[in-house]
Amino acid sequence: MCGIVGYIGRDRQNDARDVLVGGLENLEYRGYDSAGVALSNGDVTVVKREGEVSELVAALESRETLAAPVGIGHTRWSTHGEPSDENAHPHTDCTGDLAVVHNGIIENYEQLKAELRGEGHEFESETDTEVVPHLIEAAMERGENREAAFRAAIERLEGSYAIAAVFEDSEEVLTARQDSPLVIGVGDDGYYLASDVPAFIDHTDQVLYLEDGEFARLTPETVSITDADGRPVEKSLSTVEWDAEDAGKSGYDHYMLKEIHEQPRALRKCLRERVDAIERTVDLDLEGLDDVSAIHLVACGTSYHAALYGARLLRERGIPAQTFVASEYDRASLAGETPLVVGVTQSGETADTLGALRTARAAGARTLAVTNTVGSTAARECDEALYVRAGPEIGVAATKTFASQQIALHAFALWLSEESIGSDRIDALRALPDQVQAVLDDSDARSVAEAYADSSAFFFVGRRHHQPVALEGALKLKEISYEHAEGFAAGELKHGPLALIEDDTPLIAVVTGDDEIAQKTVSNVKEVQARGAPVIAVTDGRSDVEQYANHVLEIPETDPTLAPVLANVQLQLLSYWIAAELGRPIDKPRHLAKSVTVK
Ligand code: F6R
Repeated sequence: MCGIVGYIGRDRQNDARDVLVGGLENLEYRGYDSAGVALSNGDVTVVKREGEVSELVAALESRETLAAPVGIGHTRWSTHGEPSDENAHPHTDCTGDLAVVHNGIIENYEQLKAELRGEGHEFESETDTEVVPHLIEAAMERGENREAAFRAAIERLEGSYAIAAVFEDSEEVLTARQDSPLVIGVGDDGYYLASDVPAFIDHTDQVLYLEDGEFARLTPETVSITDADGRPVEKSLSTVEWDAEDAGKSGYDHYMLKEIHEQPRALRKCLRERVDAIERTVDLDLEGLDDVSAIHLVACGTSYHAALYGARLLRERGIPAQTFVASEYDRASLAGETPLVVGVTQSGETADTLGALRTARAAGARTLAVTNTVGSTAARECDEALYVRAGPEIGVAATKTFASQQIALHAFALWLSEESIGSDRIDALRALPDQVQAVLDDSDARSVAEAYADSSAFFFVGRRHHQPVALEGALKLKEISYEHAEGFAAGELKHGPLALIEDDTPLIAVVTGDDEIAQKTVSNVKEVQARGAPVIAVTDGRSDVEQYANHVLEIPETDPTLAPVLANVQLQLLSYWIAAELGRPIDKPRHLAKSVTVK
């Protein structure tokens, strides 16, 4: 949902262009409608283009005079104004002497724009952001110095922002945040700022996280951070536990495929030092959550599906747990209870999920963030954070973070429940990463995808533990292939969706085990098959579903609670290969962004 970057070199030989472009390429998952940079080398020069960062690169290549040690950049997911060169960031003041990039939403921009117009300011774009350089300019015209003018402008803003500004004749970058992520990198050759660490991980793993309401001034020599009242803030450096390899494609055609293949490693990391095979215990190092009587899980999209999975496991361990779509969560959802409210959010920045967590906190509930992002808003605002440890996920479609959320929530359910954990479950958890690897090594998803990519719609079903992955399978497919896909609880098919079944609408059914539950899903499969639709069964081979399926995607046998994790890997691969067959831009699906920081 827009990404910002900034760089200031320690000496004048450092060139911001490559750093900014590299940073924007690594942040493209946050938006890819348009991209731009502002370079400050005495004058401020802005180059910006509608389209992906590659368009910006082409524009920069045709301008040879732009070497500059200071700069800011932006990649956009449009909220106010269509994607266009004019609406692309950076935005400038009337004179073009200062430039600003922004991630977030300025809610009172219309009022500010009207006021500034009244003072003679003219605007070139339809964006909310453009008021910021004009507010800074207006304050400078009143005699404020750059920093005071920047602060004065920020104080006028209502809404969310991570903002950075550069000025003519000045070797500095000014930046501030409120409800949008912002991290500063401290490198040997200079200072960096970005919406997210992958933007500069090639250069440094030493970071400072800015809190809401804080400002920072970056110069070639130093970073000074101040609070909203201008008082200095001391921060210690954190080391990011990723390396540049984590943030690259490592030879895969797409980040999504790479990230699907990283799942064994991600799951090992998620389980490490948390599950004790000898003692049969789970230790999550969470404080103050031992007398939980009820749990609400709040989340969006894929994370909501992980939350559905986690809630079922919690209930199976005797803990009342309900799942809510975060944007629907309100005081009434609490209904007089004070449950523990768990926000499941890989980015930790999703506005709807943060909103639900804030509603819960305002009502006196304790909160837990289950997130992949250390230092994210959810992690900082919640009472406790449970990190899923998936490593950086760049593909817009969530894959490895979903698997890691499933396993973190699984561990959470085991940790919280007073029932003893059987050694079978512990063994199954520990075997899971290797089993995921086996699915990756042997999957036939590609050939199935080739056979069905042209279908007119796809239906996914699963029962009990498999219902969330049926929903997730459909979401993943529609997101990256742009094809119509729906996921249902298998039992729901006959209550309506069956009317949509035709001979070119494959049913993807997840069926594992050989119990009554599996047999019910097999019956649903038969109903579909009898109506002429092709069936793709994702199965461990223990039921007779194969008899009614045109294709089988196998998974190894495991504990019933873990089979959905393995089944989902097949569903991810199926979606990926269908989208590849259709030639879709898999890592950057149209209209979507990875981190949705608007409500
Ligand atoms: C789908 C996807 C989205 C996110 C949703 C929540 O592949 O990635 O549906 O799951 O936007 O994002 P987080 O988990 O960052 O809160």
